[in-house]
Amino acid sequence: MTMPPLLELRAISRRFGGLQALEDVSFGLQEGEIFGLIGPNGAGKTTLFNIITGVTRPSGGQVLWKQTGIEGLPPHRIHRLGLARTFQNLRLFESLSCLDNVQVGLGRSDRRRALELLALFGLQARAAEAAGGLAYGDRRRLEMARALASAPQLLLLDEPAAGLNPGEKQELSALIRRLAAELHLTVLIIEHHVPLMMQLCDRLAVLNFGRLIALGRPDAVRHDPLVIEAYLGGAGGAGGAGGAGGATEDPS
Ligand SMILES: Nc1ncnc2c1ncn2[C@@H]1O[C@H](COP(=O)(O)OP(=O)(O)OP(=O)(O)O)[C@@H](O)[C@H]1O
Ligand SMILES: [Mg+2]
Repeated sequence: MTMPPLLELRAISRRFGGLQALEDVSFGLQEGEIFGLIGPNGAGKTTLFNIITGVTRPSGGQVLWKQTGIEGLPPHRIHRLGLARTFQNLRLFESLSCLDNVQVGLGRSDRRRALELLALFGLQARAAEAAGGLAYGDRRRLEMARALASAPQLLLLDEPAAGLNPGEKQELSALIRRLAAELHLTVLIIEHHVPLMMQLCDRLAVLNFGRLIALGRPDAVRHDPLVIEAYLGGAGGAGGAGGAGGATEDPS
């Protein structure tokens, strides 16, 4: 018997002026899944994150969290329900210490918990250092630590491996798996590095020009002709450089 999804998107669409950024996108996440969202630049991935987290309203469709509609709620209400995210362009308080950045996420001064979270990401020695002075990979990890401070059930990661070197990408992938298991997290992750996603994710959804073109287990998605077409150019490859093997490293 299948459980109802933890998060379900039903026929989500979003228009920006004349641009249909998302059209009729439907899929669900089961509790405990590591679920990947891939697609060429401009496909609508971040827009979907913004809709789930309340930053952007959908033009149509529903977002169900534990079978209750949450579309249109403000971001802080959605956050309180147990959804936390990181941003494609990092949003740290650069002049604050690492410890304080995590404590901001906690919403209270729980120094011990903040230090535990830093330790999970190998950042305990950096606790007193300003976030802005960290190496890029460390800043990415710090943002994840801060997102986890609210003890979310669903963690949304928007290109957490962008700008990391191959070794760091592998480490991050292992860390995400470990965290998901230890903290009983469901993870929705956007990432351009397709081989990494194939290895990390239980299931993948592929967006192209705002439409869901494939959904399923990595080995099935990898061989889907529409996915190959979208990634390897053809008419569908808007910015398809983010394709198989290649990575779009622009952390904007
Ligand atoms: N606030 C906005 N106003 C107007 N257009 C927008 C807005 N946000 C996104 N778009 C457009 O919607 C489309 C989807 O953008 P989105 O950022 O969701 O893509 P993405 O899949 O995350 O791409 P990338 O891989 O480059 O991060 C793009 O054409 C983008 O320019
Ligand atoms: Mg994006």
